[in-house]
Amino acid sequence: DYNERLREFEARIARGEKIEPGDWMPEEYRRQLIRMISQHAHSEVVGMLPEGAWITRAPTLKRKMILVAKVQDEAGHGQYLYHAAETLGISREAMLEALLSGKAKYSSIFNYPTLTWADIGTIGWLVDGAAIKNQTMLAACSYGPYSRAMVRICAEETFHHKQGKEMVLLYAKGTPKQRQMAQDAINRWWWPALMMMGPHDKDSPNTEILVRWGIKTKTNDQVRQEFINEHAPEILEAGLTIPDPALRYDEATGNWLHGPINWDEFWQVVGGNGPMNKERLEARRRAHAEGAWVREALEAYAAKKQKTAVA
Ligand code: ACO
Repeated sequence: DYNERLREFEARIARGEKIEPGDWMPEEYRRQLIRMISQHAHSEVVGMLPEGAWITRAPTLKRKMILVAKVQDEAGHGQYLYHAAETLGISREAMLEALLSGKAKYSSIFNYPTLTWADIGTIGWLVDGAAIKNQTMLAACSYGPYSRAMVRICAEETFHHKQGKEMVLLYAKGTPKQRQMAQDAINRWWWPALMMMGPHDKDSPNTEILVRWGIKTKTNDQVRQEFINEHAPEILEAGLTIPDPALRYDEATGNWLHGPINWDEFWQVVGGNGPMNKERLEARRRAHAEGAWVREALEAYAAKKQKTAVA
């Protein structure tokens, strides 16, 4: 019966076994994974927009090649993740429909504008830095296809993180104007990067069940703390400042403690009212409409091939 199966399922997770697509799983486990993996896929795809906007304006050929490769990686990550979600029985069409209709969430961070070239470096350093902390945690998750996708994605994210950090550190040592541009980008991206990990644990309705079933292996606040502990000292060491007057190192715990996060802003952005929400969705809808002929051509080609195979 159900309780017997649930016990066996939870025992498998406790033993560190991966749950695979054909295996029995509670409907709530399936629902939670579809929610998270599809939102994650949407984040990768929408995440191409703020950076893609700078490809034509990259300052050197080297930077342009790096940025093109990075944005292309993000398209690939989106593909992996849509496939991982499909193993749970949802169709790609249904996921895309949820994104384009505004029903599905995607990461809050991609609803902020990229105002200068230094934002590209800062996204690599801070946003991808936050994504790596989140995704390294998810690489240990109990669902096989998601966990394996995370291993590959984290390897690529590490390159994204390094190129961003290298860029910001270079500008921090550069001309006063470059330095100021780097500082301005840190000032605008620091808080949104902290919000990426989601609300405080006490305000996170999904964490309890996700941790119980080994989908999340750390809580939002734990991942946020790991991110700050790595990045705060590095930013300060570069001679840049962090826009949080309450930020301080706590000897007793070995943690960098932060001041209050503006959760009103976070929920506004999550609710569709951030600075770029409308533009981002509009751009995705336009891309989808303009790509209709490609989908039609693929279908026509598949039908023709099938006909030839029969004949
Ligand atoms: N942006 C948008 N929505 C968010 C964010 C965020 N940064 N953080 C939390 N939320 C939403 C949650 O999706 C949830 O809404 P829902 O139940 O309608 O889906 C609600 O706020 C409450 O939050 P939690 O209960 O804390 O949600 P959860 O336990 O799922 O934790 C988290 C949120 C950490 C983002 C988790 O879902 C996760 O790890 N997702 C997969 C990885 C991912 O998407 N990373 C972000 C992008 S990284 C990148 O693409 C580069």
